[in-house]
Amino acid sequence: MKVLITGASGNVGRYVVKELLSKGETVVAAGTNTEKLKKIFGETVDVVNFDFADEKTYEKALEEVDRVFLMRPPHLGKPEDLYPFIDALKSHNIKLVSFLSLMGVEKNTIPPHHKIEKYIEKLGIPYAHIRPGFFMQNVSGIHSVEIKENNEIFIPAGKSKSSFIDAADIGLSVATLLHESEKYKNTAHTITGAESLDYYNIAKILSEVTGKKIIYKKPGFLNYRSYYIKKRGLDKNYVNVTVALYFMTRMGTAKMVTNEFYHLTGRKPRTFLEFASENVNCFV
Ligand SMILES: NC(=O)c1ccc[n+]([C@@H]2O[C@H](COP(=O)([O-])OP(=O)(O)OC[C@H]3O[C@@H](n4cnc5c(N)ncnc54)[C@H](OP(=O)(O)O)[C@@H]3O)[C@@H](O)[C@H]2O)c1
Repeated sequence: MKVLITGASGNVGRYVVKELLSKGETVVAAGTNTEKLKKIFGETVDVVNFDFADEKTYEKALEEVDRVFLMRPPHLGKPEDLYPFIDALKSHNIKLVSFLSLMGVEKNTIPPHHKIEKYIEKLGIPYAHIRPGFFMQNVSGIHSVEIKENNEIFIPAGKSKSSFIDAADIGLSVATLLHESEKYKNTAHTITGAESLDYYNIAKILSEVTGKKIIYKKPGFLNYRSYYIKKRGLDKNYVNVTVALYFMTRMGTAKMVTNEFYHLTGRKPRTFLEFASENVNCFV
């Protein structure tokens, strides 16, 4: 049987694919852009056109599949957007779904991940929720523009700390859960990096690896929101969700460090210094 990976071209999905292949699993990579998937994975996996918003794509995607990595594309802001596909998982007797959730969501009902976890559990689908901290890829991806162009980090996180984790480590954790599906049935895992850093620490590390003087600008919420919507042209709903997340971060919700990654994989999580050194081209 095969493992279906939704968001296979995304930050985490691409590593879930890679790690499952190295465990000898047969993988189906799913997304709305199959050309992009073929370019990333070549002939190593089956590729399928899959759209959460189009129920006609579900049947083909779930052919010969018994385990699923489920992620919520960031622009699908309502939990209900994922319910039709979760219903389809139920009727296909999936033996494990690993949902890419969010650290702290068990106590925080605001992010959509909370309701999605509950919906999976309510339907009685065997689950292994993965609840990571902030991705290091946020810094090398969406927030790298200001680092490259202005030598500054423009994130409204105040003085708060985050236990950043590399998406590669999340991918390895998810692959472990899906590969050992019986062992991890009906479990939830909060995984983080090894240390909690504020954005002054991040600026110092980035300055070290790039040889440029990078500063943390510490914008307020309104300034950040209007810059990202008006100047960067990002989707308003997406920016609003990030404002809510950075608000929570300021309340201290992102700073916890856990040992769960080590328990799952027997490895230490990658540090931000290692990550930044390997991805230096994203910042210069
Ligand atoms: N960033 C963080 O710090 C953080 C922390 C914890 C949790 N999370 C959660 O992680 C999730 C994002 O994961 P990610 O960063 O790996 O994703 P990502 O890099 O943003 O990629 C999004 C993926 O969704 C696919 N997609 C877009 N629209 C789709 C649709 N209508 N139907 C099916 N697939 C679609 C895209 O592929 P196609 O283009 O091929 O469709 C792409 O592979 C979010 O739910 C976020 O809340 C993020």
